[in-house]
Amino acid sequence: MDSNSVNNERDRRVLELYEKVLEIEQRLIPTGLHVFGQTPDDPELGDLLRMVASFDRPELDIRSLPDLVAEGLGFADYSTLLKASAASEERLREREKVEAIVRGAIESFLDSRGSRIEAAVDLLWAEASVPGEQSRKVFDLLANIRGQLENNRELDGLTRALRGEYIEPGPGADIIQNPNILPTGRNTHAVNPYSVPSASAMRRAEPVANALLDRHREEAGRYPETIAMVLWGIDNIKTEGEAVAQVLWLLGVSPRRDAMNRATDVDVIPLERLGRPRIDVVMTVSGIFRDLFGATMTLLDTAVRRVASLDEPAEMNFIKKHSDLQMNESECSIDEAAVRVFSNAAGNYGTNVNFMVLESQWDDSGELGDLFITRKCFAYGRDSQGRNFDGRESRKLLERALSRVEVTYQNIDTTEVGITDVDHYFEYLGGVSKAVEKQTGARPAIYLSDSLSPGAKVRTLEETVRLESRTKMLNPKWFEGMLRHGFSGVAEIEHHVTNTFGWSATAGAVDDWVYDEVAATFVLDEEMLERLRSLNPHSARTLVGRLLEASGRGFWKAEQSVLDKLQDVLGNLEDRLEGVAG
Ligand code: BEZ
Ligand code: MG
Repeated sequence: MDSNSVNNERDRRVLELYEKVLEIEQRLIPTGLHVFGQTPDDPELGDLLRMVASFDRPELDIRSLPDLVAEGLGFADYSTLLKASAASEERLREREKVEAIVRGAIESFLDSRGSRIEAAVDLLWAEASVPGEQSRKVFDLLANIRGQLENNRELDGLTRALRGEYIEPGPGADIIQNPNILPTGRNTHAVNPYSVPSASAMRRAEPVANALLDRHREEAGRYPETIAMVLWGIDNIKTEGEAVAQVLWLLGVSPRRDAMNRATDVDVIPLERLGRPRIDVVMTVSGIFRDLFGATMTLLDTAVRRVASLDEPAEMNFIKKHSDLQMNESECSIDEAAVRVFSNAAGNYGTNVNFMVLESQWDDSGELGDLFITRKCFAYGRDSQGRNFDGRESRKLLERALSRVEVTYQNIDTTEVGITDVDHYFEYLGGVSKAVEKQTGARPAIYLSDSLSPGAKVRTLEETVRLESRTKMLNPKWFEGMLRHGFSGVAEIEHHVTNTFGWSATAGAVDDWVYDEVAATFVLDEEMLERLRSLNPHSARTLVGRLLEASGRGFWKAEQSVLDKLQDVLGNLEDRLEGVAG
């Protein structure tokens, strides 16, 4: 390489690194637990309002603030800047300028007493020539949200419920996606399953489904033939079926609505318009989804059957390819070969993979995949005669469907709960990935979307674990926020360590440095260890035990001196808990 290309390569790497640092810095994280009845305070409120302001809301005739600022400055639109900033320093500077002005406007809105809206509007006009009639609409919305957050009715709602009084209903959603959830403290209602997926969910889903396929093509050089996708109920309530819409895009169909606006059938999107093959999708659906979205389960099954019966070349229609093959090989009918919607048996919930991991009740990791299949092998849909086979046990069919999977995937539609906050992500996405590995002998590529990010970001599981580790578990802002809650805060830190461990157990997706730094931050630091020990010795013991388990199971190559120290600390914690002087 000549010195010019060495310099170019160096600049490219520095830019890439800078982009990663920005990603970590800008990630929204909860800085403490939600305290019932309490309103978020200023820095947190500012972050929240900034996220709310960064979405177009055509129903309110409101445009995204970063777009308005970018336009006012004569730059490309913000999502273009986001994409281009990884490869061009000039775009990166423009992006930073847009973000700084947006941040400044939100700060001035929060700071100024009296005419808050006008202060922000004036600033945006002076710094970025954003017309007042546009920015005023954004800040009217933010003022409304702020007012409703300040008037917190959660405690009132709870006491009314306990007295058996009427509680006003309200939609359940993420505040950023749907500010109409405010005020909180109302009786959350779900959605009409026949309206799912909504037109706006279909609109939002297309770029995410494309980003997923693009990302895998970057990694593997071709389209995945089969994707196993996790569908949850609450998420699809919040988004009016964003993940459902993603399935339909992958299959290459769109919902057809009847005279009562109910999505009961699908229209096939022609291959010329799709411009790519139809992807085979195996759906593993939560018990909550099954209970709430019966009509949607039928719609998804209908969509798969329709696509399987199209007259199209096998290389452009992987569902048809696979179901034809299965019918030929096993001499079965389409009623078996096109089953793709699986959940628990009626009345059952969850995979139990999380419990097996939490209680260390497994020897070989194949047991985790096996348990997932045992719990989720119940098929849902309608046969060719239109008869429901809801909840029929179909272990062989699920195993067969999983044996073709190259990619597993789950849509993440909120900044409030991430993949190490609860054990349910690893039980589902980790569980299905282990089940695939058991059937194919190879771990699938695992992806998560970040459908709230303006750029329709899709990350690998490994990238997501790194990002969550950096922004939460190992971030002093996060763990100090937790420690303010004393006993529960330590429990929360331990849950993050254990849920991270869950990603080792189910997917081998955790780097050594994550465990190294957990040990260094929470155990080898005497002062921190003493804080954990005095606030909550039970969780401290579980945390240290989990680190040792990670090493014992081969998930973490730790220094022997570190392991010796952990062993010491564990012995000491156990003595204390058992009341032995130590
Ligand atoms: C659901 O919404 O379907 C769900 C929520 C938490 C855990 C598992 C499933
Ligand atoms: Mg739970």
